[in-house]
Amino acid sequence: MTESADGAAPAVAAKGDGSQPEACRTISGAARLAGVIGWPVEHSLSPRLHGLWLRRYGIDGAYVPLAVRPEHLAEALAALPKLGFRGVNITVPYKETALSLVQRASPAALRIGAVNTIVVAPDGTLDGSNTDCIGFLDSLLHARPGFCAAGASAVVIGAGGAARAVIVGLLDAGVTEIRLVNRTSGRAAALAEALGGPIRIVPWAGREAGLAGATLLVNTTTLGMRHQPALDLDLALLPPDAVVCDIVYVPAETPLLAAARARGNPCIGGLGMLLHQARPGFAAWFGRMPEITADLPTLVLAG
Ligand code: ATR
Repeated sequence: MTESADGAAPAVAAKGDGSQPEACRTISGAARLAGVIGWPVEHSLSPRLHGLWLRRYGIDGAYVPLAVRPEHLAEALAALPKLGFRGVNITVPYKETALSLVQRASPAALRIGAVNTIVVAPDGTLDGSNTDCIGFLDSLLHARPGFCAAGASAVVIGAGGAARAVIVGLLDAGVTEIRLVNRTSGRAAALAEALGGPIRIVPWAGREAGLAGATLLVNTTTLGMRHQPALDLDLALLPPDAVVCDIVYVPAETPLLAAARARGNPCIGGLGMLLHQARPGFAAWFGRMPEITADLPTLVLAG
């Protein structure tokens, strides 16, 4: 990841004070194009996030939501270079399918088994990568700069696609141990076998005992999300200085985070992962590595 400006001409100079941008309220005929493909896609916060960055940096570009039906996904991806798109993000439910539809996939995408970022190469072929793992790690280190991932003992709840990305990030960061807890133990075992490394399966019934001595706890399930039940987990055995992360970001303060905060554990919500995973794509399409400023979460959520 480099913070390079590869010739992107600001349409209007951005305000240099980091406040709400006034620049580039319109786009020109030469605007750079990117977007997010999903079905449905209206839930996605990515158009708002990338739109904020485009305006903040005064870049002549547009990032649009692309609602693509399942039967049109391959066709839509193949059309991206023909339409002049520089690339797209891929969201639910296409991250896994997209892996088989790109011409090249990054090592992280291959290990996770999913693609969330596509860049159109100069010859019109598609490069797929997965920035969820680095997004999770960067969010963790941004919120807790002193956290030492190398040597950490992590408890990860869940064994779906989000868990795969988080676990790849943690393994690459050099954690000593991952205690993997999932309601369906066979799914956890399959994930552990696929990824390798120091992953130990903890039965669902033993999840509370499994918190003893942990330095990091991550919820990757949808439990705690708005309209979903809370994660049923008594934190009594979790060390008070263990960092607690929830990848759920609606609500910002899940019942898990509220319980952890009440007993003094440092807490990290899921919005940071969403913001951080978006940076490499923005840099590739629009020529500038965007910053995660303190006001960004509020601006992104301010519907
Ligand atoms: P994603 O790709 O977003 O991770 P997913 O693949 O559907 O979504 O995975 C959802 C995760 O949440 C799984 O770990 C799932 O557990 P199972 O593998 O047992 O299904 C977990 N999950 C969802 N609802 C749950 C519930 N009510 N209790 C416990 N775990 C739940």
